[in-house]
Amino acid sequence: MSFCIAIDGPAAAGKGTISKAVAQHFGFAHLDTGLLYRATGAKTFEGLSPIEAAQTLTAQDLERDDLRSADAGQAASRVAAEPAVREALVDFQQAFARREGGAVLDGRDIGTVICPDAEVKLYVIASDEVRARRRHKELVEKGEEITFEEVLDDLRERDERDAARATAPLKPADDAVVIDTTSMSIEQAVAKVIELIEVKLG
Ligand code: CDP
Repeated sequence: MSFCIAIDGPAAAGKGTISKAVAQHFGFAHLDTGLLYRATGAKTFEGLSPIEAAQTLTAQDLERDDLRSADAGQAASRVAAEPAVREALVDFQQAFARREGGAVLDGRDIGTVICPDAEVKLYVIASDEVRARRRHKELVEKGEEITFEEVLDDLRERDERDAARATAPLKPADDAVVIDTTSMSIEQAVAKVIELIEVKLG
């Protein structure tokens, strides 16, 4: 059987952490689609055009250790606005979404474009300050030298670009459940999402 859980939302809202925990709980596979765009963006640092980078993406490209940096996030958001880049990455994501045994995909357009018939659609949000605080902590722990204000500006800039683009913009699907994690711990957010999915699984 296939069962697709689509988790979308703005930058650093907690999608990744929730997706990983939910996939582990249900024994589903997890795809962080942001990583595809980050790896595509990072390949442009070496002189490839965004389209070449997307069309030649390999599993090895997803192993680069600079993909979580703020620079890779910005590069991701720039290449992600190009329709041909998104097109090059659709088939892989759609096949993943419908694999046997269930799948959790997190990104920006999973519930709207990649898997519009997903069994569960969530849109995870949190206030700008809370998102920036969480992401700042993560980046500093990884050794990146970046201030809270720089992280806040980065998230806002990417969200604006992601929401304004013509192809697959950042927005909740009409039938998505919105989860605001501003005043939730990660454990609370995960518990709430698991509860919602259990209802759907029946
Ligand atoms: O982890 P964070 O929420 O900061 O970002 P991400 O999910 O790794 O995504 C990085 C960038 O890739 C986003 O700002 C989007 O521009 C782009 N992206 C997208 O366009 N569509 C997706 N399905 C996933 C990411």
